[in-house]
Parts: sequence; structure tokens; C-alpha cells
Amino acid sequence: MNVKNNQLYFDGLSAEELIKKYKTPLYVYEAEVIRRQYNSLAKNISYPHTKIHYAAKANANPAILKIIRQLGGNIEAVSKGKILSAFKAGFKPGQIIYTCNGAEEEELRFVIDNDITANLDSLNQIETWGRLNPNSSISLRLNLDIGAGSHIYITTGGRRSKFGIHISKIKEAKKLAKKYGLRIVGLHQHIGSDVVDGKVFGKAMRTLLKIASQFPELEFVNFGGGFGIPYKPDQKPLDTKTLGDQITKIMNQFTKEYGKEINVIIEPGRYLVAQAGTLLTSVTDIKSNPSRTFVSTNTGFNHMIRSAMYFAYHNVTNASRVEGKKKTVTVVGNICESADIFAQDRVITNPKKGDILAIHDTGAYGYTMSSLYNARVKPAEVLIDNGKAKLIRERLNIENILDSI
Ligand SMILES: Cc1ncc(COP(=O)(O)O)c(C=O)c1O
Repeated sequence: MNVKNNQLYFDGLSAEELIKKYKTPLYVYEAEVIRRQYNSLAKNISYPHTKIHYAAKANANPAILKIIRQLGGNIEAVSKGKILSAFKAGFKPGQIIYTCNGAEEEELRFVIDNDITANLDSLNQIETWGRLNPNSSISLRLNLDIGAGSHIYITTGGRRSKFGIHISKIKEAKKLAKKYGLRIVGLHQHIGSDVVDGKVFGKAMRTLLKIASQFPELEFVNFGGGFGIPYKPDQKPLDTKTLGDQITKIMNQFTKEYGKEINVIIEPGRYLVAQAGTLLTSVTDIKSNPSRTFVSTNTGFNHMIRSAMYFAYHNVTNASRVEGKKKTVTVVGNICESADIFAQDRVITNPKKGDILAIHDTGAYGYTMSSLYNARVKPAEVLIDNGKAKLIRERLNIENILDSI
């Protein structure tokens, strides 16, 4: 993305020309950014047995899954639906790893029938898996009392977290595995999301590996995802070179002590796709009260819920006039909820009705968390690759979805 003639451009295509063709609200993704992000992890982790499993929950548009596959990536899937999306995008069972809390027996059966490795999240899951598929291989998702993340709702480790088998239950987990002849070949941990401090990952990895020595049959350790991006203009990006060196050093040391080389899995979601996505929306109304100027748009938290749900910061710019006279405004959506705010008291180029606003870094947990709330259709999605735009998800007509709203 860049600015030319005071307008926002995506790989040579202006926001104005894109919305002339595709209308707003519109998610625009840049393929090149996904490739850049993927390579910055893949090239900086030199430990030779590293596998990247893209957390497809971040954005499972088939065109995006295809880019990940072409890059040599694999998939982390949270449900049967995500596994089916991965199959449709050409991934094979051996390239998919499944992790789900509260999974139903029917879904575990589907995972087993399709020969997919699972990170089991509870003692009950081990019991069910063992009953359905004795003498097989499993991985355990552990909660080692380490949590991190830019908001409590995206912190997935620690005492308050619902995820994983708590460290205090490891003995019971091993006992259950023995009862059903299950081989524990993997250990998994995902501490949380949007973490930009590499030291936090280092601490979590060392803690998992300390436990790993108690498991003699390991084929892999899985450090999860959580790699953050600089949403705010003054935020520093994650240093992937230092992170990669850290993983390599920690793993080389571990394998020496463990006596064999095992795989390392990481499951980045946000890091690969967040910065590739921009939500373009039109200014539909502007009104002031004594304390604020509200800029209303034709999108809302039905299309991008992160700001409302996590108070997440997203940079907002005026794509029609990037520079110009500034104004402090509050950018809101058109949903009938007070939480429907994208940016509060933010300084942007003075918006006018009909201007295009860009809500940045919305490629992860954007469209994928969208809903039909207030009976409004979801945005269309466009992928820009090599200077060409391709519609990768159509906007449906409201008449077509009346039974779903
Ligand atoms: C098990 C697991 N792995 C990976 C991820 C991806 O996290 P992120 O998008 O922060 O990399 C998640 C996110 O919820 C997760 O639950």
C-alpha cells in the first residue's frame, strides 16, 4: 500500500477505482504482504525441522489459503468447517493440525476418520479419543500458567484461561493416554494473541520444553501462534530475526539433551494476514454534538468486530484525501449499538460525505468474524496480486439471505 496523488493505492490500484468497480464496504487484500510476512518467519527460523501451520481462523478465504499453500505452509484448523475449507484449498490431511476446546464427539470422530493430528484440549477429549481410536498418536494442548496478549479476551494461557490441559493435570493425562495405549507424540501451547515482545515467546518455549523431557515419544513441539503486528503507528514490529534465532538456539539445545531431533510447529494467524487487509468504507453521514464529531460509515462491527470486542486500535485514514486539513473525529459504524465505534477522537483528514475511509490491518479476524447482525449483508472481498484485482468473495443480495437473518 502506498500514497500517490494524495490517494491510497494497493499495488498500483487506487482505492477510488477499486470501489468504483466493487463498491463499499470492501475488504481489500494484498497478496504480496502475505508473502512478505510468511517469508519473514520462514527465512528467519533456521532450525531445519520447522513447520508453519497457518491458523485459518484468522482468514479462511479460499484465495488466501491457496497463497499459504503455494508458500509451503500448512493449516491449523479449529473445527470441521475449517478442515473442510483446507481440503477444498488443496491441503492434505498430513498438512493439517486440529485444535479445539469443547469439541463434540462427532467432530473428533471426523478428525480421526480423516487421519488428522489433534492437539487434545482436556482430559475428556483424551478419554473420548482413546475410546474412539485406541493405540493411536495424540498431541496435548497444555496450559502452563503462561498467558499473554494485547487484551484479556485474546490471552489464552494462565489460570483464567479455558484453554488446554492445566499443568497440574499432566499426570492424569498421561494415565489416561496409557489406559488407551495412546502415544503422546506432540505437546502444544498457545499463550495468546498479538504479542510483539519476543522475550515472552522465549519464556513460554523454555517452559514447554522443560515439561517435554517427561515425554519420551515426542515427534514435535508446537509453540502455537500469537505473533503480533504494530497496529499503532508508534508500535515496534516483532523482531522475527531475533525470534527465529531464539527458536533455533532453544531447539538445538533441547534436541541435544532429548537425544533426537523433533519438529517445531508454529501457528501464526494474525502475523501472516492482518497487515494484508484493509476495509474500505464510505462516509454516509457526519454529525456533531457539543463533545464530538461523528463520522458514520456504511460498515460496522458486523463487518469488523475487533474494535468493539477488544477495544482494538486500528489506524483509520481518509483514502480519498490522505493529506489535508485535519480534524478530530469519532469514526463509527451504522449498527444500532453504542459499541459500534472504530476510532474515537482520532485525527484524520477532514472527512466529507462520500469519502472513502480505510480501516487498516483488518486482514486477520475481520471478515472471518463478521455477522449478519442488523440484517446487513457482508462486504465483498478483493485480492490484489501483481497489480491485478480479483473478486474473491461476492457481496450477496439481501434478498438471498433473508432466511438467515
Ligand atoms: C490454537 C491456536 N493457534 C494459533 C492461533 C493463532 O493466533 P494468532 O492469530 O494470534 O497468531 C490461535 C488463535 O486463536 C489459536 O487458538
